[in-house]
Amino acid sequence: MSTELAIETTGLVKVFGDNRAVDGIDLAVPTGTVYGVLGPNGAGKTTAVRMLATLLRPDGGTARVFGKDVVKEADAVRSRVSLTGQYASVDEDLTGVENLVLLARLLGHSKPAARDRAAQLLEGFGLSEAAGRQVKNYSGGMRRRIDIAASILNTPDVLFLDEPTTGLDPRSRNQVWDIVRAVVAHGTTVLLTTQYLDEADQLASRVAVIDHGKVIAEGTKGELKASVGAGTVHVRLRDAGRRAEAQRVLALALNAEVQLEADPVALTARVDGRSTEQGAAEQAGRALAELARLGITVDNFSLGQPSLDEVFLALTDKKGVAA
Ligand SMILES: Nc1ncnc2c1ncn2[C@@H]1O[C@H](COP(=O)(O)OP(=O)(O)O)[C@@H](O)[C@H]1O
Ligand SMILES: [Mg+2]
Repeated sequence: MSTELAIETTGLVKVFGDNRAVDGIDLAVPTGTVYGVLGPNGAGKTTAVRMLATLLRPDGGTARVFGKDVVKEADAVRSRVSLTGQYASVDEDLTGVENLVLLARLLGHSKPAARDRAAQLLEGFGLSEAAGRQVKNYSGGMRRRIDIAASILNTPDVLFLDEPTTGLDPRSRNQVWDIVRAVVAHGTTVLLTTQYLDEADQLASRVAVIDHGKVIAEGTKGELKASVGAGTVHVRLRDAGRRAEAQRVLALALNAEVQLEADPVALTARVDGRSTEQGAAEQAGRALAELARLGITVDNFSLGQPSLDEVFLALTDKKGVAA
């Protein structure tokens, strides 16, 4: 077992009735990073996280946190992890500061130490002014921040953040992102689930895309983008009359389907899925040369990188009904 991995799962399974909510997931999360688990509603994210946090017993496979088995060594795992998310531990009727002090006391801090830690976190999370208000009167963003504060009273080695920004406005999302960055800078490994590509793009070093309980892609953001396609080629011709010909030439040279845009001189093509970025540039270069050889004048040409959104759609399309 590699000691560099904060989390390692092999063939992890959880079944609810005949629903394989988590259907054989392999994960390897390097220590000290934010690892993104990206997937739509019902993909199995929460179920996977709850198994890793020892709250739910797996039906198959293994999961280890810093080498400790989540079933056989659950206490050892529990002492090093913390979970924030859809199941928050804060009490709605208590104020922000009361919640944090109470939880810190439960964790064994002395009264003064608990007060100090609470004040420090409230300050750090921009909640000092709201400290004396009941949590039920907090905004969504404040609520999410107090949840995270509560989960890092004792700095955990691994923090599970289950959709920490779902439903938040852009400003609150940014605040939560800043907190996540601060937590990681402190040395904590964060496993973050999200439905948002931009969130994974902003925070995570590596991403596992999951759908229907399975990992359908895994890697760095760059690798994921490259796995789907190196990009989209946009071409504008001088002469609309040559477009049909250009379409055939591009389709052949790029080995891709070429679309005719509403603009009568414009064409676009998705570059082949398996090609690397460099390969795509070379392919595009050859396509341009071929157009030039045939005397088809190109006024404008660009090769754009796919967004993580395109990656996600392409990956999930493969699994489901074709779009
Ligand atoms: N306690 C449970 N009992 C029965 N089915 C569940 C339970 N928890 C989750 N599921 C089902 O498992 C699947 C995965 O759910 P979940 O892990 O919550 O997905 P996500 O967090 O990605 O939205 C869904 O089909 C969901 O309905
Ligand atoms: Mg969930």
